Amino acid sequence: MRILFLGDVVGRSGRDAVVAALPGLRAHLRTDVVVVNGENASHGFGLGPDMATALLEAGADVITLGNHSWDRRELIPYIAQQPRVIRPLNYPPGTPGAGSHLVVLADGRRALVLNAMGRLFMDPMDCPFRGTAELLARYKLGASVQAIIADFHAEATSETMAYGHSFDGAVSLVVGTHTHVPTADHAILPGGTAYQSDAGMCGDYDSVIGMGKQGAATRFWHKMPGERLAPADGPATVCGLFVVTDDRTGLATAVEPLRQGGRLSQAMPAI
Ligand SMILES: [Fe+2]
Ligand SMILES: [Fe+2]
Repeated sequence: MRILFLGDVVGRSGRDAVVAALPGLRAHLRTDVVVVNGENASHGFGLGPDMATALLEAGADVITLGNHSWDRRELIPYIAQQPRVIRPLNYPPGTPGAGSHLVVLADGRRALVLNAMGRLFMDPMDCPFRGTAELLARYKLGASVQAIIADFHAEATSETMAYGHSFDGAVSLVVGTHTHVPTADHAILPGGTAYQSDAGMCGDYDSVIGMGKQGAATRFWHKMPGERLAPADGPATVCGLFVVTDDRTGLATAVEPLRQGGRLSQAMPAI
């Protein structure tokens, strides 16, 4: 299966770039499944229902979220109606929406997409490790599903690495989100799971993790709120990871980063 994962979409710059790029990327990379993290699409905070719809129509199969899941409250009723938008599975029981979604391709192949959130330097949550293990007990990679894609939304790379190794061989891909900075450790782990500590954001990198430089810097200099934080509005880099898996095993055979547009060095998968 050919899988494209795009990291946190930040603000209008990120949204516009992803919506414009997705149809071309789907065709060029001949993707089967596209997953996009949308937690910062709405001015850096949350995801508006109209924005979710635009990302899905542009070619995202599933949208994942994170600690900003509910910043746009309109998403709460929307997520109950739209199973292709998922939130971390380790919110307390009874939270609206689901923590995973099963994508069924036109040819019958199935890909499970799940979203979990770390706990180190993050809001208190149920255990993402046990929550993921409980979910995975219901699926068999290479049998009931041909691919399993896990978006682990976390601050600390140590927690993401521990999560990746914990599920090495049990899922096709573990990719981190939330830090908004792409890491250069994309690789196939010993058990066959593709891994990257963070996919990086889809946003303007002439910024502080997507937000305007001045306002963000002021907070560090003076330790008091300055001007309201707003997303940087320069050209975005569409940033993510491309993975190819073997349908018989569900494990990765290739993993390459993707960086298109904006200020970052460019990288287009050639597989
Ligand atoms: Fe984010
Ligand atoms: Fe986040």
